[in-house]
Amino acid sequence: MPEATTSSQPEAIRLEDYEIPDFLIDTVELHFDLRDGITTVENTMRMRRNPAAPSSDAPLVLDGHDLEFVSASLDSIPLPPDRFQIDTDHLRIHVVPDVFTLTTVVKIRPEKNTALEGLYRPDEFYCTQCEAEGFRRITYYLDRPDVLAKFTTTIEADKTRFPVLLSNGNPVKAGDTDDGRHFVIFEDPYSKPCYLFALVAGDLAHIEDRYRTVEGRNVKLRIYTTEANIDRCDHAMRSLKKAMKWDEDVFGLACDLDNYSIVVTDDFNMGAMENKGLNVFNSKYVLARPDTATDSDFAGIEGVIGHEYFHNWTGNRVTCRDWFQLSLKEGLTVFRDQQFSGDMNSPAIQRIRDVRTLRNHQFAEDAGPMAHPVRPSSVIEINNFYTVTVYEKGAEVVRMYHTLFGAEGFRRGMDRYIEQFDGQAVTCDDFRQAMADANGRNLDRFANWYSQAGTPVLDVSAAHDPKAQTYSLTMEQSCPPTPGLDNDKPFHIPVAVGLLDSSGRDMPLRRHPGDEPQTTAILELTEKKQTFTFINVPVPPVPSLLRGFSAPVSLRFEHDDQQLAFLAAHDSDSFCRWDAIQHLAVKCMQQLIADHQSGTPSTVPDELTAAFRNSLERRDEDRALTAELLGLPAESFLGDTMDIIDVEAVHEVRKSVKKELATALRPQLLATYEECESNGPYTVEPAAVARRNLRYVCLAYLTTLDEPGIEELCLAQLHKADNMTEGLAALVLLCHSGAASAQQALTEFHDKWRDDPLVLDKWFSIQATSPQPGTLDRVVELMSHPAFSITNPNKVRALIGAFCGQNRINFHQPDGAGYTLLADQVIKLNELNPQIAARLTSVLNHWKRFASPRRELMEAELRRILSVPTLRRDVYEIATRALA
Ligand code: TRP
Ligand code: ZN
Repeated sequence: MPEATTSSQPEAIRLEDYEIPDFLIDTVELHFDLRDGITTVENTMRMRRNPAAPSSDAPLVLDGHDLEFVSASLDSIPLPPDRFQIDTDHLRIHVVPDVFTLTTVVKIRPEKNTALEGLYRPDEFYCTQCEAEGFRRITYYLDRPDVLAKFTTTIEADKTRFPVLLSNGNPVKAGDTDDGRHFVIFEDPYSKPCYLFALVAGDLAHIEDRYRTVEGRNVKLRIYTTEANIDRCDHAMRSLKKAMKWDEDVFGLACDLDNYSIVVTDDFNMGAMENKGLNVFNSKYVLARPDTATDSDFAGIEGVIGHEYFHNWTGNRVTCRDWFQLSLKEGLTVFRDQQFSGDMNSPAIQRIRDVRTLRNHQFAEDAGPMAHPVRPSSVIEINNFYTVTVYEKGAEVVRMYHTLFGAEGFRRGMDRYIEQFDGQAVTCDDFRQAMADANGRNLDRFANWYSQAGTPVLDVSAAHDPKAQTYSLTMEQSCPPTPGLDNDKPFHIPVAVGLLDSSGRDMPLRRHPGDEPQTTAILELTEKKQTFTFINVPVPPVPSLLRGFSAPVSLRFEHDDQQLAFLAAHDSDSFCRWDAIQHLAVKCMQQLIADHQSGTPSTVPDELTAAFRNSLERRDEDRALTAELLGLPAESFLGDTMDIIDVEAVHEVRKSVKKELATALRPQLLATYEECESNGPYTVEPAAVARRNLRYVCLAYLTTLDEPGIEELCLAQLHKADNMTEGLAALVLLCHSGAASAQQALTEFHDKWRDDPLVLDKWFSIQATSPQPGTLDRVVELMSHPAFSITNPNKVRALIGAFCGQNRINFHQPDGAGYTLLADQVIKLNELNPQIAARLTSVLNHWKRFASPRRELMEAELRRILSVPTLRRDVYEIATRALA
């Protein structure tokens, strides 16, 4: 059967049209017969009419896509052809009784499945991905998250080639059948929506461990991967046990499973998937050894292992009513994994990085054609809404409850949420109500965080009254208009505020006489405009605003350069220190960009150099924080602050600022570089990671100086390194600085790691992100490299995604060749993997923001994409929204 395409234009589905299901499924028995080329799926469901549904004679409409129908029978009687109807997306049975058993048999072709959705077969290995709507590619079903059923799954396959057979739950029976085949039957004791179904079959090795929960349950933990990778799973296993302990300690949530297994695959559209008791992970988020993975890989693994584990409660035990509520599980679970990673490492550094991600990516999404609320109200293809808005802004929204009610109040809300909704499929409003009820607060106004799009702007002004000794902050909020949305209702915004005295210390804050003094006050803005007054403030303080980034807003306050430098040096809130220096850098660089455009010669202002010098010279503090403080705002972020993005000006100014700072701070950078040299074997202890990171940041500045001595430093680090973090850092800097030795170093790296897909991804990315000329040609060349594969999402992301998304100067080369390359690959991927094609298309979202001729060139490529006659709705939705 051919894939449905857009020959008829895809239609949007709307949240307001939600209806409860007409039927419920009590039990499902699945039988998979896995054979080369074709898999047969038999599905027997005990079904009944939903007593709550309005109609008592509605037909039964099951979802199904790309299925080869074999047979159907109702209560054991074969259905004659006139009793049902099949179209590209459904099986419709016109008349059914109130309670019945339906059996269907279909054939599917996992070997042909390059979309990696449903049942697919990368090499000698079967695996599934059902979220969001992949289960309908396996069997006819009510493929929606609010239909929960108990699953029993039988898998049958060749015993030598597929010795390991896995599904959700516990194995209850196993045995051999004829012709060297075998089977295993799994029973999942928990009711679940079908998006959490998983099946795996292959020749896999595993490592095993145990965890005893606070409740006394013994959970068997396994990580499955190929024999060759078995020595790279230990960090993931350690992370899993930490996550299990953390969820017990912080939320009182213990694991409810006897078996928790993780299966590793190289072929995966996303990071990982929380299938009940049987997670499937992209190899990037499991496999790590000090010589193959970097510090940031190790951190990413800890975070994603935590994320998927935490879903077992927030997502699986309490799930989503419909896919518009995706952030109910994703925003909450991202918040949980952020807190976990912070607790395992450094909360302050975690916060800075999370905010940086949000500002660099989510703010841009919210300002572009894909802007949507945390709970979208209209969607063409749900796969397009696994976005930074649903995930990261969703996590910020959850974090605001935590800020408003404190850790204890948040825990009360969580307890109530779980207790009230365990085993159910619910909405974002249900979560908000649980938080409100548990804390005795009205959160009606807070609802706007879920329904409005765009980053709210918070304008703050201050007034000091020396006579009354008061200090007032007036705050005014506004939300950018978004087409099709009623977007201008005020939000409930928690604004964390501190006031610094002239020595940089926190003043005791009181708003009313008799108040218990605080160092940080949480001001709650609920109206468009409000004034908050502090008493007993004899002299004008320097305000520290939005501490910890207490709300996902764009703050505007006229701090002058001296005040920003003061905050950067003294604020007790490390997020605000970082934010102040970022703000100062952005302000200076905006001026330098304007000067560059008008041909006015100018140099980095002393305030900025002094702020960076001060960060470098403060030896007493956290090196991880120093590394963050020394980071310059990204080109993309700087570009986003301009009305019309000038790619060259941004790139040139950022480059020259780096070089000027390096010139001015050369001795301090060199000293810090040397002081941070590793001693002893590689560990991922936060202090060791911080040391390597700061060392890298210093070396990166120094390489801008084009000194032979610095190239020598890089080479020495490259050859001395016993770990991927330091080796790769040196290699990146050699390549990106255009050093003469770069080519040879790249070749050696390639030859050393030629058989290691994850390390080769790094090799592709280094080259794709190089600012040096000739990069586009190199990317084209690398697309023919034997290790590159257009059907492998990691490879596409490492080469094409990295080039188009992280290499501003080369992707946007003025002749538009980068855009043509992108569109060519989108058109290829449209047929092979629409999810990945759609993600790639979204790189062109911001075409209107660029100056001619770039904007016309990008627009033309979007139109070329849209003219493809077999365009999938994934790509169609992104391209039409971008052009609208
Ligand atoms: N639920 C997954 C998560 O934890 C997301 C995910 C994994 C996904 N694979 C996917 C979403 C494929 C859509 C398609 O974030
Ligand atoms: Zn998730």
